[in-house]
Amino acid sequence: MHITIFGTGYVGLVTGACLAQSGNHVVCVDIDEDKIARLTRGEIPIYEPGLEQIVHDNVRSGRLRFTTDAAEAVAHGTLQFIAVGTPPDEDGSADLQYVLKVASTIGAHMDDYRLVITKSTVPVGTADKVREALGQAVRERGVDIEFDVASNPEFLKEGAAVEDFMKPDRVVVGVDSDRAAEHLRALYAPFNRQHDRTIIMDIRSAELTKYAANIVLATKISLMNELSQVADRVDADIEQVRKAIGADHRIGYHFIYPGCGFGGSCFPKDVRALAQTAGKLGYDTEIINAVERVNDRQKQVLFEKLAAHFGDLSGKTIALWGLAFKPNTDDMREAPSCTLMQALWEAGARVRAYDPEAMKETRRIYGERDDLLLCETAEQAVEDADALVLVTEWHIFRTPDFADIARRMRQPVLVDGRNIYKPSYVAQAGFTYYGIGRSAAS
Ligand code: UGA
Repeated sequence: MHITIFGTGYVGLVTGACLAQSGNHVVCVDIDEDKIARLTRGEIPIYEPGLEQIVHDNVRSGRLRFTTDAAEAVAHGTLQFIAVGTPPDEDGSADLQYVLKVASTIGAHMDDYRLVITKSTVPVGTADKVREALGQAVRERGVDIEFDVASNPEFLKEGAAVEDFMKPDRVVVGVDSDRAAEHLRALYAPFNRQHDRTIIMDIRSAELTKYAANIVLATKISLMNELSQVADRVDADIEQVRKAIGADHRIGYHFIYPGCGFGGSCFPKDVRALAQTAGKLGYDTEIINAVERVNDRQKQVLFEKLAAHFGDLSGKTIALWGLAFKPNTDDMREAPSCTLMQALWEAGARVRAYDPEAMKETRRIYGERDDLLLCETAEQAVEDADALVLVTEWHIFRTPDFADIARRMRQPVLVDGRNIYKPSYVAQAGFTYYGIGRSAAS
């Protein structure tokens, strides 16, 4: 099939590369000339395991191309995906101007049937607006060309996006015509394993499914984080509680890891956006609002534990392990590390930090400052530190030489923001240990 993808951000690039990998001819288009020039040279702007290889392979085989020429891109694909950004407005609603601009561009250039599919996370009802913008652009040219619109939300996790695309749990397709359904069923057929993964539904339900999935996952996390706060106060160990409740298959083990709050570009944005959508329609969401409030509070927990231990933090040096919002990405958006660093600086403390991938991004965000030292290794970060905080559970932080770490530090204090260490083991190396919701931990 011939496919066009508008937007070479995270979602667009992974979608384009993976669809080329399954044998389609894909053109990715973006207004950012520099980005397109770099992609054409084979430079991948994001860190995502496996992506670089499939981009290189498919560019070489001629199945994947990058361009800034919208007219050429519209002419290429029968299927046109919209994967441009939907940044939050001031009130938290998704800003649709880029999505609708692409719809108008497609309408302005198409001269044959096109199926236009929204891949970006968009509020329920957006497909209708896309249809309107597209139809208007076609009518303005005085021509009559058929088109369909569809919703095909993505469920990719950063750090595992290629794997998620190639082996999806399900592919959600929202359509209002058999023609659109057949195109998308055929497109995703190569990704079915054992059974058909494509779930076809009406467009609005598909749009809502995306938000619903993220909100259920975010709710699980906030609920566990709230329980961890209770565990801290009643002297229980949330890790033992987690293992026991996860064994109940109705609850399950996934997404019940307490921590220092969820971050990233999706959960915080989608939680706010759905609450906004419902609010505008006169329904005040209660659980969804609480998910956000609990998360905001949880992001303070690392600082609170340090403040409770030290009292005054001014002049203290705090080592951070992990800056990205989760492992296997360099993404710092809404990362708990940002909340922690900001609070430490306000309290007059200095930060020494190390992350395997997010150092460049951290420097881009914060620039050079006296109270931030970005270190080359995890060991260097703890040198003369008053406390070590594990913020992101990268694999390389899992089994450090604690005796060596303790010797390098001014004081062996450890705040484990993801509960990855065994408290009794760490204590043996001389550390004072603080976890999340595990004051009774052993
Ligand atoms: C999330 C969803 O998992 C994807 O299915 C979805 O496609 C994506 O948003 C999106 O809307 O585009 P992502 O933001 O990449 O993916 O990250 P997750 O792996 O879901 O983690 C989100 C946050 O939750 C991280 O900060 C992580 O540390 C935190 N988390 C996760 C916990 O604190 N506890 C858990 O048990 C699981």
